[in-house]
Amino acid sequence: MSTSPAVCLKNISFSYEKTPILEQVDFSIDEGEFVGIFGPNGGGKTTLLKLLMGFLTPDIGEVSLLGTSPKQARTHIGYVPQATKIDRQFPITVEEVVQMGCLSKTNFWGLLSQTHKQKALDALEKVKMIHKKDSPFGHLSGGEAQRVLIARALASEPKILFLDEPTASVDPVAEEEILSILSSLKGSLTILMVTHDLQTILQKVGKLLCVHRKVHILAPSEVCEHYGLGLYHSPLIQTLRK
Ligand SMILES: Nc1ncnc2c1ncn2[C@@H]1O[C@H](COP(=O)(O)OP(=O)(O)OP(=O)(O)O)[C@@H](O)[C@H]1O
Ligand SMILES: [Mg+2]
Repeated sequence: MSTSPAVCLKNISFSYEKTPILEQVDFSIDEGEFVGIFGPNGGGKTTLLKLLMGFLTPDIGEVSLLGTSPKQARTHIGYVPQATKIDRQFPITVEEVVQMGCLSKTNFWGLLSQTHKQKALDALEKVKMIHKKDSPFGHLSGGEAQRVLIARALASEPKILFLDEPTASVDPVAEEEILSILSSLKGSLTILMVTHDLQTILQKVGKLLCVHRKVHILAPSEVCEHYGLGLYHSPLIQTLRK
């Protein structure tokens, strides 16, 4: 492992037009950590992920991934976007969806090597969806589709995996399956996952980020029951530390 943190933000602020979304965000995450990200709707969680991946640029401050810029680190990043942004009707098989995760690895003719086709199948094994490889993606249940999208993100063997609410709109059984897949990957790559379901991830993650204009870093034991009720406030423990 390299000595640089997987993710490092130094005093980031970001606005859309003139509306401030994130202010003075400062944290770092070591390689291999599993981090949960939560906070109110519109608090800036997806924006934070986009800044981390280099799709947005901060107004001030600096983002680095694996010791380099987000754009340079992009080949080491896997991303599972918020489900509502995916067109499920597009006629494509499960295997083809996962192969899309290797598109940066195509040769001159736009074809994938046998090695990368095999990596796509390996990723489907990891998420326990290999038996559906020939099914149309649009025929899958919500939970199955999410597992396939995780496989797509894993196919390029990323060092950092970003997931934006992978368990939203799936039932509790599917949620548990997704979380157990992510837990089984723990330590082999760095995982940052946005979720609204605090209760379920508290046992699984080592650290949490509460995103509400500012970003507060919490240990699972510091998560207050108010957050579960949607009452987000500055953690008392951190206020006292200042
Ligand atoms: N492209 C954009 N242009 C202008 N404003 C935007 C844009 N994208 C998001 N916003 C606004 O920025 C704020 C933060 O949005 P963001 O999507 O980061 O929130 P979120 O924490 O991910 O919310 P949710 O829990 O609903 O997914 C919201 O008020 C949103 O309306
Ligand atoms: Mg969001």
